[in-house]
Amino acid sequence: MGQGVLTEAFAHRDGALFCEDVPAETLAIAAGTPTFVYSASVLRDRYRRLSDAIAGCAGRIHYSMKANGNRAVITLLREIGSGVDVVSGGELARALRAGFDGNDIVFGGVGKTAMEMREALHAKVKLINVESEAELSLLNDIARDLGSVAPVGLRVNPEVAVANAHHYIATGERGHKFGIPFAEAGGVARVALAMSNVNLLGLDMHVGSQLATLEPYRDGVVRLSALARELRSAGVAIRYLDVGGGLPVVYDHDDVEPDLVGFGSIMRAAIKDLGLELIVEPGRFFAADSGVLLTRVLYRKESGGRRYVIVDAGMNDLLRPSHYDAFHRIDAVRPSGRRVTADIVGPVCETGDFLALGREVDDVVPGDLMVVHGAGAYGYVMSSNYNARPRAAEVMVDGHRHAVVTLRESHDDLMRLEVEDPNWRDA
Ligand code: LLP
Repeated sequence: MGQGVLTEAFAHRDGALFCEDVPAETLAIAAGTPTFVYSASVLRDRYRRLSDAIAGCAGRIHYSMKANGNRAVITLLREIGSGVDVVSGGELARALRAGFDGNDIVFGGVGKTAMEMREALHAKVKLINVESEAELSLLNDIARDLGSVAPVGLRVNPEVAVANAHHYIATGERGHKFGIPFAEAGGVARVALAMSNVNLLGLDMHVGSQLATLEPYRDGVVRLSALARELRSAGVAIRYLDVGGGLPVVYDHDDVEPDLVGFGSIMRAAIKDLGLELIVEPGRFFAADSGVLLTRVLYRKESGGRRYVIVDAGMNDLLRPSHYDAFHRIDAVRPSGRRVTADIVGPVCETGDFLALGREVDDVVPGDLMVVHGAGAYGYVMSSNYNARPRAAEVMVDGHRHAVVTLRESHDDLMRLEVEDPNWRDA
């Protein structure tokens, strides 16, 4: 672990796991299981570490709330100075509800609807990152209708090679659906310049997620700052360089800590000459290690020579293992000291419903609690109601204090939007 990394938030003390200073067992009683538990201290720590790394750069951190849009999480980050990056009208509404102002918000996303563009303009967001000429032109029309001028960034595909954990989360290579192909970006910028209701203020990229090395950032910002220089000389007042997210976390022992010092130097160099303001959009780096998924063992069984531990959290709660083959460390809350190799699986009726396969874990018995680490990012936000399973509760801990910040869904919640007596009409 790198220097200054807070790793103590979810650790065993005297034989049982604590979440900061609260026993995990206390939380399981207070909120039931499965429950996501977030540590306020880890969130603060990660924000501070990234801020320190980019100290001296004009600009701002815009936390990517797609990783974890929990109200308590985003409110905490807002209070310590973070902005947000949103990718839908829903995320925009959540950000506004949590007290962010337009100027705190960057709006991105590959398929914005006209309605979302209107909402973003109404909210007076700082930047709308557009991903195609067609989107730019629709935004210009909508801004004209509203009598406003849209602050625009161009999301450019820098077309750099990325060695990612999983190909689903690589985004900045040639041919991906995201961004404007690099060779076309100058042309789209000229189109923007000729429009009267967009103001081209930024260049944006997002090269991928869980980036193991800094090369994609370095190569990407070199390409983007060259473009910014070219546009500056053509009279475009480029102000922002938005470098997206992607900083990695350690899920497994062969993952690496992000080199934040190196990241800071690359960014300082990229913005210095042109006097640009930096926008960074970390999601996973802030949220992943801030959260665990607390789950209870329901059953054990053996079948065809495999040993199974069946827990009450499934792929509908934490999709990452089955969707990306992602590794999440799993511990017993009260380790027995005996180790076994088992598949840790959920109750969902799918063979793909697992949290870990062939994993050496503590030997647990029904009723025991377990925690799945690194579940604070892309956990709850990717959860679903598959098998009509209510979504889990969310709890925040801060030192000795803890609070339920999202209630567990009820069965009524599952049926809340159903139309009891549909009003059939003839066409
Ligand atoms: N900015 C943009 C434009 C993005 O598309 C993303 C993530 C981020 C920022 C934040 O990236 P981060 O810092 O979290 O790497 N569900 C996947 C991850 C998908 C990431 C999508 N884009 C997972 O569970 O690994």
